Amino acid sequence: MKTELLIPEQIISMLKAPGQANDTDLEISSDALRCTQTGNSYEFVDGVPSLLASTREATGDIGTRVHAFYEENPFPNYESIDDFGDLVSKGYSSSFSNELLREIGSNKCILECGCGTGQLSHFLQLNNNHVLGIDMSLNSLKLAIEFKLNNHLVRSGFAQMDLFSLAVKDESMDVVISHGVLHHTPDARRAFHEIIKKVKPGGIVVVGLYNAIARVPTWLRAKAMPLLGPNIDYIARTRIMDERKREIWTKDQYFNPHETWHSIDEVMNWFSEENVEYLNCRPSIYDTDGEGDAGMFDKTSPGTRYQRVVTQLSWLNSIAREGAVFDVIGRKRE
Ligand SMILES: C[S@@+](CC[C@H](N)C(=O)[O-])C[C@H]1O[C@@H](n2cnc3c(N)ncnc32)[C@H](O)[C@@H]1O
Repeated sequence: MKTELLIPEQIISMLKAPGQANDTDLEISSDALRCTQTGNSYEFVDGVPSLLASTREATGDIGTRVHAFYEENPFPNYESIDDFGDLVSKGYSSSFSNELLREIGSNKCILECGCGTGQLSHFLQLNNNHVLGIDMSLNSLKLAIEFKLNNHLVRSGFAQMDLFSLAVKDESMDVVISHGVLHHTPDARRAFHEIIKKVKPGGIVVVGLYNAIARVPTWLRAKAMPLLGPNIDYIARTRIMDERKREIWTKDQYFNPHETWHSIDEVMNWFSEENVEYLNCRPSIYDTDGEGDAGMFDKTSPGTRYQRVVTQLSWLNSIAREGAVFDVIGRKRE
């Protein structure tokens, strides 16, 4: 594959030099990204385009520890995914990624913040979408790029960045997704402020976070795990066959250096503070028009505070056993 295809041209035009103004541009060569205005060069690291501003500066001690954790444990990893066909069939069989792709449609530019090893980014580049996956874990991105090159995927691209200092032009993306990431940063609210800047007016944001109620059983299992072992986790016990993948899942869920818990109401407040209109929630809010046929990008009622509390309590019996991440979807107002 030619170097120019490492990051698709459509995506390159949305990049800017790290820490620089919105009107700086980058071009790609065989071993670096270069700012066309300043001539500054940002060399690839181990074959990965790197636009990482200092993590320590941006995210302090927590950022440093989380970064080290995901360098050691690239999440979720490719064990048991043989090729792109396999990844696509897994993507369609997950109700979340299947619906996400359907709602995004075609010919969109998508930013995935905290893409890990890149499976979702690869899946979403179907339908002629172009996807930039960013993460601070170089080892995760190496796996994402290896898979891209082995499978000749030309519309997904990856770069090392800290989401607190995104080298992406403001208001450039049709869709920004961050699933299971902001709760591992020192300040999820500030992280949301950074990612929402990159959404075009009228564009979509999908933010997935640990739920404050549904995460309690994981916390209890963490206490019992030294005694009962990792098989008390439902996913580790029933869904993951590969040993290394199971180990990474268990560490991510039970031995993570940092996590915070959030509620639907909290994210709705973030939305109103950032001029984002609430669209829907996954899983959906109990007894609202968000249930049933409504797509995740359809405008639906957020229900009452009571309905949202009941919904989150009901998650103790559903998403609580699979990581307790809920996604809230919004549209940036024009
Ligand atoms: C639990 S994994 C989620 C990966 C993927 N989104 C998924 O759902 O499978 C969290 C990811 O967030 C990344 N991450 C955490 N803090 C970050 C930051 N400040 N900037 C960029 N990536 C970050 C980690 O490196 C890790 O890959």
